[in-house]
Amino acid sequence: MLATLAVAIGLAALRVQAHYFGPVFRNNGFGATHGASRGAPLPLPAVYESSGAVLRVDAARFRFGIEGNTCDILEEAVRRYEALTFEPAKLKACGGTRRDCDPGECLSQLRIRLRSPCEKWPSMHMDEQYTLKVSTESKGGATLSASSIWGILRGLETFSQIVYYDCQFLVNTTSISDWPRYAWRGLLLDTSRHFLPKTTIFETLDLMAMHKLNVFHWHIVDDHSFPYESARFPFLSKNGSYAPDRVYRRKDVKEILEYARLRGIRVVPEFDTPGHMQSWGRALPGLLTACRGASVWKMFLDLPEYGPIDPSREENYAFLRKFFGEVLETFPDRFLHLGGDEVDFLCWKMNGDIWDFMTRQNISSFEGLQAYYMNRLVKLLDGVSSEKKNYLVWQDVFDNEVRLSPDAVVHVWKGNWETELAKVTNAGNAALLSSCWYLDYISYGTDWENYYKCDPENFPGNTAQKMLVLGGEVCLWGEFVDETNLHSRLWPRGSAAAERLWSPREAQDADFFASRMNEHRCRLRRRGFPAQPINGPDSCDQRKKSFLYDSICGTNLCLSPKR
Ligand SMILES: *[C@@H]1O[C@H](CO)[C@@H](O)[C@H](O)[C@H]1NC(C)=O
Ligand SMILES: *[C@@H]1O[C@H](CO)[C@@H](O)[C@H](O)[C@H]1NC(C)=O
Ligand SMILES: *[C@@H]1O[C@H](CO)[C@@H](O)[C@H](O)[C@H]1NC(C)=O
Repeated sequence: MLATLAVAIGLAALRVQAHYFGPVFRNNGFGATHGASRGAPLPLPAVYESSGAVLRVDAARFRFGIEGNTCDILEEAVRRYEALTFEPAKLKACGGTRRDCDPGECLSQLRIRLRSPCEKWPSMHMDEQYTLKVSTESKGGATLSASSIWGILRGLETFSQIVYYDCQFLVNTTSISDWPRYAWRGLLLDTSRHFLPKTTIFETLDLMAMHKLNVFHWHIVDDHSFPYESARFPFLSKNGSYAPDRVYRRKDVKEILEYARLRGIRVVPEFDTPGHMQSWGRALPGLLTACRGASVWKMFLDLPEYGPIDPSREENYAFLRKFFGEVLETFPDRFLHLGGDEVDFLCWKMNGDIWDFMTRQNISSFEGLQAYYMNRLVKLLDGVSSEKKNYLVWQDVFDNEVRLSPDAVVHVWKGNWETELAKVTNAGNAALLSSCWYLDYISYGTDWENYYKCDPENFPGNTAQKMLVLGGEVCLWGEFVDETNLHSRLWPRGSAAAERLWSPREAQDADFFASRMNEHRCRLRRRGFPAQPINGPDSCDQRKKSFLYDSICGTNLCLSPKR
């Protein structure tokens, strides 16, 4: 059977000549409810042709041959993909024999041609394009080439996915030319509601690389805890973390940045202000607005002790200048997320000092006060950073009519996102979409179709407006998530969003996606991750026994050299 797929740029439709998915979901009856593909990549490459002609792969002697430029990123990647591609854990017994190749009989090499020197850090404008060819004449070597290291990383992942196992390692002849649709393909983890061990973050970065996601949005602190160790203000985490061992030390942050860099993943931290700051207040009396107000309201309202930051105190801006100065030195990415969501005005309304301040400043509304705060924050940040930085804010800031600088990125997270994207881009601001991809919400049954259907381009607007959408982010808020359920909640549900953000707009065949997703789930399990069932009854042949804690460094495989 010949399965040939081709997606060409500008083509209105994805040409799929044959697929190999199973029957539509049936709840009764023998066997798996959906078929699985064999050696098909996820996300779908921009241009993808795969034939039914099968080559055997010489796993025992296989070489990843670096022929062009090289660097630490490439050499580390080759080490990882040697292990991942031929992950031997719990392979099917096949009657006790494993068929091996005689020399020269099977594909024995991937030639890697990087055409320019490596960059050190991934960035918003990194080039992730690559080509990958496996042909029948290529027993001596399949070829992966790219003009940047980031393209080589994406191509190595694809290669590791098109090699599959059926009593022996196989690969179909394939021709791929691939590049991302969106530059910003992110995943948000929340380390405040539940602290996440560093190893869980490493594992997530590995899983992101397996989905070609390239931005780790680190929602690092929030009301419930402050696990970030500041060198200048160590009391923030001393007083504000759950426990001394639930803190990301300076060295941990460095390791996470390095782990991400080696996988071509940017780390964009978020320090959310002026709301969501209860944990900050534990170390700095006076930082937050006291919810006092001698008013009679106290008798009727259940007032919290503190509200958002107190924007009337000059000392607070001095603190922010020092604190954010350190943040900007710590995280190399050009982008910083400033939060700005869900500011509860109640305590501002209750506090007489705030009213006095507003009168003095001629501020007539609490939205106006938030605007005053955000503008001062951005101004002071511009003052502390030697390089030009870009800021992201949650859509609330835009909705409250804070006058944003034209290069601010608005992060859309609420419902009715089509209208919001139209408004934001009409105002000339760039935008990111998350509304469709709140994976912390769960329900019974198959729920990925909506993640798959959601397209950030589906809003009313002209071409210039569409161009302002940088991409999107999957969000995994942490109220009900810690290291016990994080991976299974994210994967493979997040794969649907990953494909939407990477693959061409024309990739819309949900059945074909389902068959690749089923294969991919088993692939993730083989690699040691607890990816949950998603399309009803099925069975993965090859799996690792235990997942938590010793998951990645199991019997034969270590994804990263040193943990
Ligand atoms: C590879 O070839 C085999 C055998 O023809 C076929 O069953 C399988 O679907 C093909 N896989 C892909 C991804 O083309
Ligand atoms: C928190 O930190 C401050 C230093 O800013 C310290 O003086 C104070 O005792 C600490 N408070 C608590 C409750 O630990
Ligand atoms: C507030 O408005 C008054 C009168 O219009 C003006 O004199 C004063 O400078 C304003 N204060 C600020 C802080 O803008």
